[in-house]
Amino acid sequence: MKFTFTSIVAAALLLLTSVQGAAVPPIGAQNSATAATLPPHANSLQKRTISGLNNYSCKLTAAHPRPLLLVHATLLSLESWWEFAPILIKHGYCVFALTYGRYKDIPLFGGLAPVEDSAQEVADFADNILKQMNVTQLDYVGHSQGGILGRYWMKYLGGAGKVNRQLNAGGDFAPGVIASNIATRFDEVVTPYENCYQNDPGVTNVLLQDLCLLSINEHLTMINSKVVMRYVMNQLDPSTAKTANCLSAFNL
Ligand SMILES: *[C@@H]1O[C@H](CO)[C@@H](O)[C@H](O)[C@H]1NC(C)=O
Ligand SMILES: *[C@@H]1O[C@H](CO)[C@@H](O)[C@H](O)[C@H]1NC(C)=O
Repeated sequence: MKFTFTSIVAAALLLLTSVQGAAVPPIGAQNSATAATLPPHANSLQKRTISGLNNYSCKLTAAHPRPLLLVHATLLSLESWWEFAPILIKHGYCVFALTYGRYKDIPLFGGLAPVEDSAQEVADFADNILKQMNVTQLDYVGHSQGGILGRYWMKYLGGAGKVNRQLNAGGDFAPGVIASNIATRFDEVVTPYENCYQNDPGVTNVLLQDLCLLSINEHLTMINSKVVMRYVMNQLDPSTAKTANCLSAFNL
């Protein structure tokens, strides 16, 4: 068999294409051969079922009287809450999440549409939660762009007064809401990371590495940090707060 230069180049290109193709795993696919080529947040992109999420029959309790809405970041999807949401559900929260900002021909990634369009999706989803759960307010956890969309909903799309608490991991918040921002020193999207902070009264700002110096989570993976989860739960329900520190990984 005789290899021509062209056929070798073609084969190399084919190989390259399939390696690049592997960077976005097909829905449901999970194999270790492709894992090495996946971006750090790829786990958040895989199709997963989060048991108990978006359960409109969930019973609100005195301890957790409001539904909790989780809104993902740019390029991610509701699957990015695969670690976070089950823990909150286990702790008795009624947890809801959507994937916003999808483009039709890009099946896996969300958070790509213009902010106004995505904010409208969030607004519709949130208003439906309030209606179905028969309450006037929810709590809101936003990751990056997810925080900005919450603010947009409250400011421009009728969401004013509908959020009791807003927590942002690397993001933005609306005035008049009990708000907390958590930043990470290894933020490659929000630079400098201090830009996550708001100096308005009533806003708590915290740096992940001040809670646990060893935390290496960057912008997209910070919501998978147990320290961040503990911090968020403390803010949502101060009565059951436990110190958020490096030990949170073992004692959530
Ligand atoms: C939804 O919530 C109801 C009430 O708590 C519960 O009985 C049911 O099992 C839940 N469904 C799922 C799919 O978790
Ligand atoms: C909704 O909530 C209101 C006020 O708490 C209550 O009076 C009403 O019965 C509730 N409706 C349903 C369908 O549960």
